[in-house]
Amino acid sequence: MNEAEEFLLAFHQRHPGCTRIAFASGENTEMGTSYYEVLSELAGDDLVLDLGCGDAHILSLLADRPSDPPAIGLDFSPDELRAAHGRHPSATLI
Ligand SMILES: C[S@@+](CC[C@H](N)C(=O)[O-])C[C@H]1O[C@@H](n2cnc3c(N)ncnc32)[C@H](O)[C@@H]1O
Repeated sequence: MNEAEEFLLAFHQRHPGCTRIAFASGENTEMGTSYYEVLSELAGDDLVLDLGCGDAHILSLLADRPSDPPAIGLDFSPDELRAAHGRHPSATLI
């Protein structure tokens, strides 16, 4: 693991869910919608693999899709993965 990865891992261990807290209410002024809403709409009915899933906020937003495709999240922070499991227990979290 390089220095940048060590920094990120330590940061996300101390602050699980920090991305959701920072971005969930942020608006894209051109599109009038949030980062998460844009990503959710772009995903459509496709299977989503979230590389660096954090606390699975995106995966949980996608969980209500009628087609119910599998959700897969990967993260190197055990604390983020623990939070992800609480938020989206049926997702495959690695
Ligand atoms: C900016 S957050 C995004 C979280 C989530 N996708 C979201 O949008 O809410 C980035 C995540 O990637 C994870 N991460 C960063 N580098 C990684 C690596 N090399 N391998 C696995 N996970 C990594 C961090 O632990 C963090 O949870």
